[in-house]
Amino acid sequence: METESLVIRQARIIDPSRDLDQVGDILIGNGEILATGSLGSDSIPDGTRVIDGTGLVVAPGFIDLHCHLREPGFEYKETIAAGSRAGAKGGFTTLCAMPNTDPPIDNAAVVEFIQQKARQDSKVRILPIGCVTKGRKGYELSEMEELASAGVACFSDDGDPVFDANLMKLALTYSSDLGLAISNHCQDKSLSCNGVMAEGPVATHLGLDGIPAAAEEAMIARDIALAESTGGRLHVAHLSTAGSVPLVREAKDRGLSVTAEVCPHHLTVTDQWVLGGKGASASVAGSLAYDTSTKVYPPLRSLNDVEALIKGLADGVIDCIATDHAPHDLTSKQVTYQDAAFGISVLETALGSLMQLVHESKLSMVALVDRLTLGPAKILGESYKELATLQPGTTADIVIFDPEHEWTVDTSQFESKGKNTPLDGTKLKGRVVATIVGGTIVYDGPGLQFQAEKGRA
Ligand code: DOR
Ligand code: ZN
Repeated sequence: METESLVIRQARIIDPSRDLDQVGDILIGNGEILATGSLGSDSIPDGTRVIDGTGLVVAPGFIDLHCHLREPGFEYKETIAAGSRAGAKGGFTTLCAMPNTDPPIDNAAVVEFIQQKARQDSKVRILPIGCVTKGRKGYELSEMEELASAGVACFSDDGDPVFDANLMKLALTYSSDLGLAISNHCQDKSLSCNGVMAEGPVATHLGLDGIPAAAEEAMIARDIALAESTGGRLHVAHLSTAGSVPLVREAKDRGLSVTAEVCPHHLTVTDQWVLGGKGASASVAGSLAYDTSTKVYPPLRSLNDVEALIKGLADGVIDCIATDHAPHDLTSKQVTYQDAAFGISVLETALGSLMQLVHESKLSMVALVDRLTLGPAKILGESYKELATLQPGTTADIVIFDPEHEWTVDTSQFESKGKNTPLDGTKLKGRVVATIVGGTIVYDGPGLQFQAEKGRA
């Protein structure tokens, strides 16, 4: 752990909060960003360690609005300690933890337990998310005010939708007073039924029950109507269908307080992967078909959906990228496709897989950084913008990454306890080199090069 002053030299500095994209230096000390720009050696204090940033990108640390850290209750799937190491390795400096824990995060005591655990075990900032309903059961609103005072980042029953429209309406009503968004996992279960993958030709070919796009879109449409009637703050979790994008666009055009997120896997992986060929244009099932690591909610969808989501993200209709990191133990996945748990372990592959969009010129590097930093910070609220900027005088939460570094995903090397990803064995281009939280290096990866210390050479 390095706490002393650091200077990163000659890196590409991308700071969407200041419309900054230029090669320069960044000086860090006392846990803060002290200066950015072209820094002469006179302005660097003696004893400062020098990181060679040539060919690297420096940006505000990534903020994940949606991940599952499983603690308390499911420590055999993930812990705050392991999840935070996975986050740091993935370039994330802030992780918002979903409340589908046991007990669920529906009262101040559980919020305080997580905050305490995070102080003890976590390498990154952890922000608990409070339940919308008591016990996540969907019958009665949680004590939202108590949860807000305890410091939750927003509210969600993720893993399940807020199915009762009147409860969702009440929650949205309170959200504006509390200044916190309601993040809904939009899934009309009377439409998704027993579906395990996206409805479409692949599901038909494999004989698996499909989940129609309408299961998502119907609830988004409902929630937008409720946001309009209440003036509440709606955040739509993990968009997965082409049809969801225009719903969010129109809501924004009408000036409603509606935001949305999309996950790395919905931007880069299609339902073809369930056939077993890792996306190879197979039309028949391969020997690895029914690979349960592809089972996730919402499901992987068609290329048409993927392309619409990328466009929505690029033009800003979708505000941010969130991982929905959903680690599971082996036994929850080593069963039939129907029985397997939904979820993908994402934190450690997020940047590498998203960089594919940049390398293919589908998304600019600046937009990618924006959607991982300022985008989520704006949804959290004004006070969090401080974590999404390289402005001198603010907290030094920083990621350094190499956009050209090629590597092969090997889940045996994951920090996360969840090895459940269809990307195991695939090649990615783009890797985190270092992650800095409050001025401390919390992850020091391949490619981090120190030069002679200033004043001690
Ligand atoms: O795939 C998913 N896994 N989707 C969710 O909404 C919940 C999550 C989990 O908790 O495993
Ligand atoms: Zn969800």
